[in-house]
Amino acid sequence: MSGRFVTFEGIDGAGKSTHVDWYVERLKARGIDAIRSREPGGTPLAERLRELLLTQPMSMDTELMLMFAARRDHLERLIRPALAAGKWVVCDRFTDSTWAYQGGGRRGPAERIAWLEAWVHGDLQPDRTYLFDLPAGMAAQRRAAARDADRFEREDEAFFERVREAYRGRAGQAPERFRLIDGRLPIEDIRKILEEDIASIGN
Ligand SMILES: Nc1ncnc2c1ncn2[C@@H]1O[C@H](COP(=O)(O)OP(=O)(O)O)[C@@H](O)[C@H]1O
Ligand SMILES: [Mg+2]
Repeated sequence: MSGRFVTFEGIDGAGKSTHVDWYVERLKARGIDAIRSREPGGTPLAERLRELLLTQPMSMDTELMLMFAARRDHLERLIRPALAAGKWVVCDRFTDSTWAYQGGGRRGPAERIAWLEAWVHGDLQPDRTYLFDLPAGMAAQRRAAARDADRFEREDEAFFERVREAYRGRAGQAPERFRLIDGRLPIEDIRKILEEDIASIGN
């Protein structure tokens, strides 16, 4: 018995969080035992690391290692036990975010990210990843209207365009796992796309 691992990805303001709770409810309506989580975070320890990551100045290397430390705890205590119990785990961000932000945005070393990924969860990848894609300027406008910026969200538009490109590169490398969602579409249209995709996951 094994569940499914679904992740939501995209730049800040792309619309991930807008859809995650709704998506979990749609799974439950189909009789699927599903839980929602997020990264960095998802466990008490990882949520404390999240607070540090979103507020404290730190080097790129420290940021990279704290992200994977939080992820390891999340995997050990929440993701793996839930999947082993047959549940679906729907997660707002996962390792594609590290490739996009620490790799693309901050131009971090790909070989170290790959090594950390292999160490922390080399045997486990998401069954489905929704990439919410839209221009960085549009995402920035949405964020500005909705909330105060955290440490990542204070980066400039060029940073977020690099993040976006890194995400698109990841999606191109794993087309069977990714579904590219046009984040400019109305919320109702996006929900229709997500709903129609559920049946195809893991088959
Ligand atoms: N498809 C959409 N069309 C218009 N506004 C949207 C859409 N999706 C999200 N929003 C709005 O954009 C803002 C950022 O969305 P959010 O889900 O928080 O993005 P993320 O979690 O990817 O950072 C919110 O105010 C949200 O209501
Ligand atoms: Mg969000």
